[in-house]
Amino acid sequence: MKKIAILSALIVLGFSSYGQEHVDRDGATVYTQTCLMCHGPLGDKGLAGAKNLIISTMSDSSTTAIVRDGKGAMMAYGTMLSEVELENIVVYIKTLRTKEEEESH
Ligand code: HEC
Repeated sequence: MKKIAILSALIVLGFSSYGQEHVDRDGATVYTQTCLMCHGPLGDKGLAGAKNLIISTMSDSSTTAIVRDGKGAMMAYGTMLSEVELENIVVYIKTLRTKEEEESH
């Protein structure tokens, strides 16, 4: 009985990790894996002239366009992110903005 339980647990785990390969990453994950090296954990690292995301006042549509198409030293991520991941990252980097910035909107 115990063996069967362990076996079915392994099967379930196997299936769920297989499924995860196709799941869209959330904004924080995309940020850590793709953006953090230049923009830093808080958004203000500024490597290679990266814009400070804390003080950014860019609209969602402009932010989406920059991430998708790139600008200056920042490459285009359009082909590396799914539509959902692109939306997630735009929402996520807005959370890096300061409280005052959010309240003034
Ligand atoms: C190679 C370093 C690098 C990486 C990696 C990088 N960026 Fe950038 N980013 C830049 C640079 C440089 C600029 C300034 C571009 C310009 O205006 O010429 C910039 C600008 C931006 C801006 C515009 C902000 C403003 O107010 O002008 C946003 C938004 C942004 N990056 C988001 C991201 C996101 C999201 C990611 C990850 C998907 C990312 N960046 C990855 C270098 C980088």
